[in-house]
Amino acid sequence: MTPPATLVITPTYNEREALPGTLQRLRRAEPQVHVLIVDDGSPDGTGQWAEQIAAVDDHVHVLHRTAKEGLGPAYLAGFAWGLEHGYEVLVEMDADASHRPEQLGGLLEAVRRGADLAIGSRWVPGGRVHDWPLRRMLLSRVANRYVRVMLGLRVNDATAGFRAFRAPLLRRLVAEDIASQGYCFQVDMTRRARLDGAVIREVPIDFDERTEGASKMSSGIVREALLLVTWWGIRHRTQQALGLLR
Ligand code: GDD
Ligand code: MN
Repeated sequence: MTPPATLVITPTYNEREALPGTLQRLRRAEPQVHVLIVDDGSPDGTGQWAEQIAAVDDHVHVLHRTAKEGLGPAYLAGFAWGLEHGYEVLVEMDADASHRPEQLGGLLEAVRRGADLAIGSRWVPGGRVHDWPLRRMLLSRVANRYVRVMLGLRVNDATAGFRAFRAPLLRRLVAEDIASQGYCFQVDMTRRARLDGAVIREVPIDFDERTEGASKMSSGIVREALLLVTWWGIRHRTQQALGLLR
C-alpha cells in the first residue's frame, strides 16, 4: 500500500547554515516525503539556497514570503499550500535539526494508526532534551504546566514544534481565524484540535539544541504566549462553569 502523500513544512528565518544538513538528513531518512521551505525573506539567503535545491530535486518546494511575521503565519501559509496541493499528511519540523528527521517515522506511524494529530513530545516517558540551556528547559516545562492548568489540555508538550496532522483535521482548524503569531501558535493548534475532538497522540522524541544559527525565541514571543494562554484559559474556565463545554 503506498504511504499517504506527506509534506514536511519547515519555516525558515536565517537558517542558511542549519538547513542544508537538516534537509539532507530528511531526504535520506524519509525519501518519499516532500518538503516545503517557507522562508520569510531571510537576509542570509536561505530562500535563494533552497530555490537552488528545489531546481534539482522535485521533492523540495519553496514558498517565499516578504516579511518576518512569526512562526504562526509561516505555518498557516505552508498549510494552505500543502492542502491546496492535496497532501494527506502535513508535518511541522524545525530547520535547525532540533527535531531528528530520523524520528519522523514515529509520527507518521502514529498517524497511520489513527491519530489525527501526532505530537513529537519532549515531556512523555522516552522523550529527551539534549544540550538545551536550563532557562529554555524551565521555560518549556513551566509553559506546558501553565497550559495544562489554564486550558485543562491533557497534552504534555503542547508547545512542541514537531508534529504531523492528518489533512481533514488541519482543513477544519485553518478554516477558523488563527491570530497567534509566535510559538503559542503551537498551543493554539493543540487546543483547537482538542476542541475539535481530534485523536491526539504524543510520541517521545529527542530534542537537540541547535548547533548552527540562532533561536528566534524572544521576550515578545513569551509575552504573547502568556497573554493569549491566560485569555484562552479564562474563557475556557468560564465556559466550563457555564456548562458550555462538551
Ligand atoms: N518563516 C519563519 N518566520 N520561520 C521562523 C520564524 C519566522 O518569523 N521564527 C522562527 N522560525 C523558524 C526557525 O527558522 C526554525 O526553523 C523554527 O521556526 C523554530 O525556530 P527556533 O528559533 O529554532 O525555535 P526554538 O528552538 O527557540 O523553539 C523550539 O521550541 C519551541 C517551544 O517548544 C521550537 O521547536 C519551536 O517550534 C517550539 O514551538
Ligand atoms: Mn530551534
